Amino acid sequence: MYAGSFPLTRLRRCRKNQFTQALVQENSLQVTDLVYPVFVSEGTQLIRPIATMPGQNCYSIDQLLNVAAECVKLGIPGIALFPNIELAKKDKLASEAYNPQGLIPRAITELKQKFPDLVIFTDVALDPYTLNGHDGITGDANYVLNDITLEILSKQALCHAAAGADFVCPSDMMDGRILKIRQHLEAAGYVNTGILAYSAKYNSNFYGPFREAVGASCNAEKIDKSSYQLNPADANVAMHETFIDIQEGADIVMIKPGLPYLDILYRVKHEFKKPTAAYHVSGEYLMLKHCASFIDYNAAIIEIMLCFKRAGADFIWTYAALDVAKILNKHNHLGELHGKK
Ligand code: PBG
Repeated sequence: MYAGSFPLTRLRRCRKNQFTQALVQENSLQVTDLVYPVFVSEGTQLIRPIATMPGQNCYSIDQLLNVAAECVKLGIPGIALFPNIELAKKDKLASEAYNPQGLIPRAITELKQKFPDLVIFTDVALDPYTLNGHDGITGDANYVLNDITLEILSKQALCHAAAGADFVCPSDMMDGRILKIRQHLEAAGYVNTGILAYSAKYNSNFYGPFREAVGASCNAEKIDKSSYQLNPADANVAMHETFIDIQEGADIVMIKPGLPYLDILYRVKHEFKKPTAAYHVSGEYLMLKHCASFIDYNAAIIEIMLCFKRAGADFIWTYAALDVAKILNKHNHLGELHGKK
């Protein structure tokens, strides 16, 4: 007989009932673990359903304010803004990306007036603003030019900071972007504007529904971002990218997509111990919504969120944030969590 052998050890003793399970549970999920990504467009009184993302809409700024109010009411601490830019404002050099009167700066200003504490994350990348949907400025053969792109990204980040964004979030995967943006923010006096870096952003098929939503899938053929986003076959390079982003001044790092990349999330959190976010992306959300008649959506989404927590996420960006918050707020007492009836 050795320690740990049956019947001295019966692990089921700690799983006897939900009260015991709750006491020994290692990780937990709270509404404060959520960030809600929202799509914004020009116009007024506009709530346009996004065909590729059931339950998600594109909002004009006045309607966005209602969404923000709901987040605050539910206890969701942050929202991430993504613009749907009309074709007439797109150009080769993405100049609308740093227009101080542009859609995103106006949205930030209005949100901050009404909800000063709600944390606002903004996407720093050029794909909604370029004609070809690439995250940067393209040269010959649609190759994205790194250093020219950095200049535009820095202007975009400054423009968001000036409007009052709490965190600018470079999702472009150019080399050197975090340092460049940090230097520009410091020089302009935005010392308290944070950077959430999409440090390990993979070249994933799961972004398809999002690209439709922001109107960045202008090309009929699939856009190829493999010369800047990470190869899904690689893991060590994600560690290298994250290491560099932290060295360059990232306050928070993010892994994207979510579920297929939990190994990366786990490694990043355990190696660097920095604030770490996971992005449960559009394709993952869509898959779950499509399964809703076969699996219990509410139970499954809570399980997925808990898995992110277990793997090391401090918080999660998810289109299901409102759903999750409502489930958690409704079932906040013992015995009703995790979809157990
Ligand atoms: C663009 C950006 C993308 C997403 C967030 N920012 C798409 C892309 O890289 O093509 C994807 C989010 C999602 O799929 O939910 N820089």
